[in-house]
Amino acid sequence: MPETSNDIKHLASPLARQTLLDGGLTRPVAGVRPIRLLPWLQVVKIGGRSIMDRGAEAILPIVDELRKLLPEHRLLILTGAGIRARHVYSVGLDLGLPVGSLASLAAREAGQNGHILAALLASEGVSYVEHPTIANQLAIHLSAARAVVGSAFPPYHHHEFPTSRIPPHRADTGAFLLADALGAAGLTIVEDVDGVYSTDPKGADGEQAQFIPETDAADLVKFESPLPFDRALPEVMANARHIERVQIVNGLVPGRLTAALRGEHVGTIIHTGARPV
Ligand SMILES: Nc1ncnc2c1ncn2[C@@H]1O[C@H](COP(=O)(O)OP(=O)(O)O)[C@@H](O)[C@H]1O
Ligand SMILES: [Mg+2]
Repeated sequence: MPETSNDIKHLASPLARQTLLDGGLTRPVAGVRPIRLLPWLQVVKIGGRSIMDRGAEAILPIVDELRKLLPEHRLLILTGAGIRARHVYSVGLDLGLPVGSLASLAAREAGQNGHILAALLASEGVSYVEHPTIANQLAIHLSAARAVVGSAFPPYHHHEFPTSRIPPHRADTGAFLLADALGAAGLTIVEDVDGVYSTDPKGADGEQAQFIPETDAADLVKFESPLPFDRALPEVMANARHIERVQIVNGLVPGRLTAALRGEHVGTIIHTGARPV
């Protein structure tokens, strides 16, 4: 009779006999900080409505600025959705489509905007990559090129939370989740305003809007006025593991993005729930 080994049945694992629901039991194993996969990476989210929808007038200067940043930084450039997603939301809502269907449709526009930006940076070796490539092969792509472009929209699709009829997890949340999961050096969100104001500076009470140079995610969760990013963003920020701060900058002002990537305070800095080691 050959000797058989049943070692595999006794594979030592501290979580083997525990429910994953008891935080007290899982914390000693799961409470450690994850490693930073790409600690040298800077993530830049380019707004769909604020930048891409403005066409050449806004896109070309930001492309020029991104091009000049390449020797200095290795970038993951993520694009959001804008006017076409808003149109698809209104058609879809009118037809009663579920939130997951709307999420998939809106995500297409974020991808389209990414393709546009990547085409303009192609001569620098920059290309558009899909989410599976970002998840698994970003390092090799960034060894071949100084930057890649992807969609900022998170791929929840039909798993999108049905908390509202408009997908709650959009491009800002998606960009933050990626930057934090990769352990990136930073995330900068590019908008068409100088940062966060007490209320929409272009809204009805615009002249009363006060600039907020620095805030934190916990305060923004309670913020009642509109925000220039997804409401889900400050909620997700509260549980950040690596990204300690995010800066919102005005991409219509040349040099702001460059200054932000150099660590200068040129917009609104939002502190997340992540703490320095
Ligand atoms: N509290 C606020 N502070 C600054 N901007 C705000 C605020 N609330 C709303 N906005 C508006 O959000 C706009 C940006 O729109 P948004 O939908 O975030 O664009 P994008 O799709 O590019 O991210 C700004 O131009 C501004 O008018
Ligand atoms: Mg925005």
